[in-house]
Amino acid sequence: MSAPARPAPAPEDAFRAAARHWSTGVAVLTTRSGEEVFAKTVSSFCTLSLDPLLVSVAVARHSPLVSAVRGSGRFAVSVLTDRQHGVARRFATPGAGRALGTFTAVPMRAEATGAPVLEAALAWFDCRLHGVLPGGDHAVLVGRVAAADASPGEPLLYHDGRYRSLAHRSPGVGA
Ligand SMILES: Cc1cc2nc3c(=O)[nH]c(=O)nc-3n(C[C@H](O)[C@H](O)[C@H](O)COP(=O)(O)O)c2cc1C
Repeated sequence: MSAPARPAPAPEDAFRAAARHWSTGVAVLTTRSGEEVFAKTVSSFCTLSLDPLLVSVAVARHSPLVSAVRGSGRFAVSVLTDRQHGVARRFATPGAGRALGTFTAVPMRAEATGAPVLEAALAWFDCRLHGVLPGGDHAVLVGRVAAADASPGEPLLYHDGRYRSLAHRSPGVGA
C-alpha cells in the first residue's frame, strides 16, 4: 500500500520555504528628508549596472521610507559587518527606523548626496534616486551611485532566518 500523498503546501509557504535557502548580506537603507532620518534593515540590495553605476533595493511599498526617498531624491545603503547584528535588529524593529535629526546610538555622516551613511559600515553606496519600479507589494528603488567606499572586515550574513558570519562564528541572534 502506498503512503498517502502529502498535501501540496500553499504557494506562499513554498515560496517562504524556498526563500529561506537564499543567503544574503545585510545592509541598512537610509535617507534624510528635511529634519527626519529614516533607516531600515534590508537584504534585497543588489548591484545592478556598471554603466551607469546603479544599485537597487526593494522596500515594502507602504513604508514611509519609500515616500521619504521619493521626496528627498537620495538614499544610501550601508553594508553591515559581522559585529553589527545589533544594528540590524534595531532597524528591523517596527517604528525604530525614524528619528528627528540623528540616531544617537548609531553614528552616521553625510557623504556626496546628504543621505546618512553609517560610520562603522563595511561598505557604503551613496545614491541619487534614478527611478522607482513596481514590484508587487514592494517598490524597487533604483539608485545612481554618486560615491561608494569600503573598509576591511567581514560581512554580516542572513540565512535561514538567522544572522551568520563567514567564519561560521554565528552571532547567535535570531531575526
Ligand atoms: C535580515 C532582514 C532583511 C530585511 N530586508 C528587507 C528588505 O529588503 N526590504 C524591506 O522592505 N524590509 C526588509 N526587512 C524588514 C524591515 O527591516 C522591517 O520590517 C522594518 O524595518 C520594520 O519597521 P517599519 O515597519 O517601521 O518600517 C528585513 C528584515 C530583516 C531582519
